Amino acid sequence: MEKLRIQGGHMLSGKVRVGGAKNAALPELAATLLTDEPVRLTNVPAVRDVATIIRLLEHLGARIERDASGTRSRLCAFNGTEAPYDLVKTMRASFLVLGPLLVRTGRARVSLPGGCAIGARPVDQHLSALAQLGADLRVEKGYVIAEAQRLNGSEVTFPSPTVGGTEHLMLAASLAQGTTVLRNAACEPEVADLAILLNLMGARIEGAGSDTIEIRGVSELGGADHEILPDRIEAGTYLVAGALKGDRLEIANCRPAHLGAVINKVQEIGANIKLGDDSLCISASTDYRASNTRTEPHPGFPTDMQAQYMTLMTQASGTATVTETIFENRFMHVPELNRMGADITIDGHSAIIRGPRQLGGARVMATDLRASASLVLAGLVAEGETIIDRLYHLDRGYESLVEKLCAAGAKVERFRE
Ligand code: UD1
Repeated sequence: MEKLRIQGGHMLSGKVRVGGAKNAALPELAATLLTDEPVRLTNVPAVRDVATIIRLLEHLGARIERDASGTRSRLCAFNGTEAPYDLVKTMRASFLVLGPLLVRTGRARVSLPGGCAIGARPVDQHLSALAQLGADLRVEKGYVIAEAQRLNGSEVTFPSPTVGGTEHLMLAASLAQGTTVLRNAACEPEVADLAILLNLMGARIEGAGSDTIEIRGVSELGGADHEILPDRIEAGTYLVAGALKGDRLEIANCRPAHLGAVINKVQEIGANIKLGDDSLCISASTDYRASNTRTEPHPGFPTDMQAQYMTLMTQASGTATVTETIFENRFMHVPELNRMGADITIDGHSAIIRGPRQLGGARVMATDLRASASLVLAGLVAEGETIIDRLYHLDRGYESLVEKLCAAGAKVERFRE
């Protein structure tokens, strides 16, 4: 199994280019099932989660071509209407094919995604919202079986904002009869980007990016050509890398407006960030002040940046509390960071970080995608060698991480033991 070796302490400079957003690519690839015409997506990140959904789309009958300029998906005929457990269990976003399958074929059989390391992550809100549009749903042997002649637009209020649930309903309601209004919808930029693609395909969606989204159903959708927005979590991860070890590190091709809460926090602790229209430039300081944060739905502090921010707090003076409000089990990086010399205790949904602490290289284990990123960041600032096991977690969401960090001056390599 591949591991990552990091020799800590090297400064990072030059330019890191941010790739396309994984969390937009996944629902947008699912959206290609809504038409027989070709949909071409550019800025698709070459990460493992994207490869997983492509495998699922191919299983369902899509033909996907990838070249240097983009990914083109065309679905002429469905091979079947089943998304099997093997293709859904590794990635929850696979569940999003249920809505498109249902509205195109009248039937879908999709494995329940189950829990994952960071929490139970049910799909109850997806299912009750689809039921409100008239889907006939039942669960049999771990599979959701959905049937409907045609969905009917309806008013749906999500009990709490769900990114995947909002996207799922946008996909399904685009081809429903009549108008659907989603209230308490997720406002994440990836939801808005999906609406841009769907509208290019002929959908009529308004309000995506706010908490109320109106979708006027149409009878068919067509092809489109769309560039996926930059990955704000990848950008945020490199921003923290720059706060730790940057020497005028430029984070290029990002949208600072999508990272407001993270940028504000990193500025608040004492970092100097130069904001460009589509770039950020940051140099490390040795004088950071601890600052509390809590994760919230967008535009609040993203849960996907919580672990990375915790690594940064190990280098700040004072005590910081980081409270996780989105997922119930998202502190698995804490014992690993402590093995590297951090002083972090967990109290319910909060982690208390006392800093600054000089971290030291150690052998650590990645437990999930963003936890892995926090360990890489810790390795960059630690004294000596850090070895990170279970690299496949990182490969789910970070494109060319080793190449990008090395080009900026880090000493990082993959190896097999
Ligand atoms: C998406 C992101 C993920 C991010 C998360 C929160 C993708 C592919 N993944 O995940 O990186 O961490 O948003 O910003 O875009 N919930 C329910 N019932 C449901 C749906 C969700 O209880 O039917 C709960 C979840 O367990 C979680 C919370 O709602 O506690 C938020 O989940 P949700 O916004 O749906 O996250 P994902 O779409 O899975």
